[in-house]
Amino acid sequence: MSYPWTTAWVTGASTGIGRELVEQLAAGGVRVAATARSADKLEDLSRRSPNIVAFPCDVTDRVAMSDAHKSILARFGRIDLAILNAGVWDQTPALRFDATRAAETLAVNYLGLANAVAPLIAEMVERKSGHIALVSSVAGYRGLPLAAYYGPSKAAAISLAEVLQGELPRHGVKVSLINPGFVETPMTAVNEFSMPFIIKADDAARRIIRGLRKGRFEIVFPWQMMAMTKFARLLPYPAFFWLVRNVIAVQAEPPKK
Ligand SMILES: NC(=O)c1ccc[n+]([C@@H]2O[C@H](COP(=O)([O-])OP(=O)(O)OC[C@H]3O[C@@H](n4cnc5c(N)ncnc54)[C@H](OP(=O)(O)O)[C@@H]3O)[C@@H](O)[C@H]2O)c1
Repeated sequence: MSYPWTTAWVTGASTGIGRELVEQLAAGGVRVAATARSADKLEDLSRRSPNIVAFPCDVTDRVAMSDAHKSILARFGRIDLAILNAGVWDQTPALRFDATRAAETLAVNYLGLANAVAPLIAEMVERKSGHIALVSSVAGYRGLPLAAYYGPSKAAAISLAEVLQGELPRHGVKVSLINPGFVETPMTAVNEFSMPFIIKADDAARRIIRGLRKGRFEIVFPWQMMAMTKFARLLPYPAFFWLVRNVIAVQAEPPKK
């Protein structure tokens, strides 16, 4: 499979969807800069292909991300595609809401995007090309049970992608928003509730790359989760909260041991 990119930067590359993206892009001849905190896992990944180069970094560290971006440019010359995928999730009922965890989640899932987007915009707009893809979630469309930290952070990511898509294409820069449903990864392995229509991480990566190649703005999958969550987004509040309390919250309830 040949791709329309020579170089790419993938964050959240050490496990799950990000790792699969790196492997598939590298297998198609793309030189990929792989970022996450776990330097050992990135080194292991980079040994799998000469096209993969590890750039360990914490996405919440603004200065370190700007330095990582500079180092990637120094090594690759330019970044054709950036898939900003690093993320964290924890399932917390609103009754146990903790402001520190809320801030930590926002720092990774939203500010982590911002810390990459800032240097990328400057570089891509100057050369009038490039593609920035933000990974959010179908959980960002509306406020859902157990997603007290995750939901708002993913809603912010969706909003940022919409803002960028309104402005950057006229400067030659493509923008994509990736909203997966449930995917089998270390992130979802902790979930005790049922995860309808869950797919494998390699399948998710293939769907993402296919959507990016087609230049789609919104890449959302699988279609069943897309249909359910987009339908929920259209509902007026009384109907939405009826659905949340009587259907979604019941399904999200961890099984009683
Ligand atoms: N799995 C799903 O069902 C699902 C559904 C919708 C959306 N998503 C989104 O898809 C993305 C990938 O998720 P996944 O399921 O593949 O999860 P995952 O396997 O847990 O991967 C998360 C990645 O993010 C990295 N990361 C976390 N905090 C970081 C930080 N501070 N700095 C740098 N990297 C950090 C992790 O690496 P280190 O720990 O090594 O830093 C890891 O590589 C996330 O944005 C997630 O919200 C997933």
